[in-house]
Amino acid sequence: MISHSRPTISPEDIKSVCDVLESGAIAQGEVVKEFERSVAAFVGVKGGVAVNSGTAALHLALIALGVQTGDEVILPSYLCVAPLNAVRYVGATPVFSDIDPGTGNIDAERAKAVASEKTKAIIVPHMLGQPAQMEGFGDLRVPVIEDCAQSIGARYKGKCVGSFGDVAICSFYATKVITTGEGGMVLSDNEELLEAVRDLRDYDEKTSYMTRFNYKMTDMQAALGTEQVRRLPDFIATRRQIAKFYDHVLADLPVRLPVKATGCEPIFYRYVLRIGSDVEDFIKTMEDLNVVCRRPIYRPLHQLVNQTGFKNTDQVWNDSVSVPIYPMLTDQEREQVAFGVKRALSVGKQ
Ligand SMILES: Cc1ncc(COP(=O)(O)O)c(C=O)c1O
Repeated sequence: MISHSRPTISPEDIKSVCDVLESGAIAQGEVVKEFERSVAAFVGVKGGVAVNSGTAALHLALIALGVQTGDEVILPSYLCVAPLNAVRYVGATPVFSDIDPGTGNIDAERAKAVASEKTKAIIVPHMLGQPAQMEGFGDLRVPVIEDCAQSIGARYKGKCVGSFGDVAICSFYATKVITTGEGGMVLSDNEELLEAVRDLRDYDEKTSYMTRFNYKMTDMQAALGTEQVRRLPDFIATRRQIAKFYDHVLADLPVRLPVKATGCEPIFYRYVLRIGSDVEDFIKTMEDLNVVCRRPIYRPLHQLVNQTGFKNTDQVWNDSVSVPIYPMLTDQEREQVAFGVKRALSVGKQ
């Protein structure tokens, strides 16, 4: 069975973790600092604070920005549930926006349509490896949090995502673009904000009390992360190569392939087909052909909390399916995925 996603773990990754284990200093230490520097340098921002998940990164970013009960935070509905949880953790009210039906991302016009005087921040996720178009969010005059959990290394107008907003977050969960098993990071040019996040992630040896968290990353994870960042350009190049292969072999099928949006250099965290028909049937047929496919988003957020009125989100969710794409996918597996897609779509037509 060809899995839907798989991490890329090399002997160097394993050695780096073993070196930390052998050193005897395995909790948060110098290796975490090195990892923070390497991610910040890659993205092109002044600094980063590593934490134990992308959700924790969002949680601390929201606290550091002063978001609290009574405030509203805008985020797209076409999104995994973690950012919604982070907004709720600080007691704020999530306000969903619809998305651009082409890119699947939030844009400034749609965000403005749901803004109010209570809006205190906006979360702009770059979904599925595709950069959001960043113009116009500044007009809202609230902090912009870029969510790069699925898109580290993607570029918009030549600049890495994560370097546009007031603050950005990453996730290093097992199946993300780079991994530390579980992990995340807050990135920013704002040293004061980073210092606030650094203070909040650790409760120990403080001279005054406030509610703080144990959101620390370990040096074992950071060693793996540092190796992964080093190879990130290769990971991205391979993802793009596979996407090009799929673009080519699936070009004549009656499906919509990933869009090429102006100024966007996606990294293909997911390769999403808009099949215009029943996604569940497609997934079942592909499984019979030994290929695991998934909806890129399990359920849009508005559906989970029983809201309606998000036409593009519903439409994109209904007919989008993600096929395996990751650096460990062999040439033979790519062929098998492409063959399966052709079969599944012709079965669907009968
Ligand atoms: C867009 C997005 N934001 C945030 C997160 C949360 O990251 P984590 O799973 O590391 O908490 C995820 C994780 O799937 C995600 O896809």
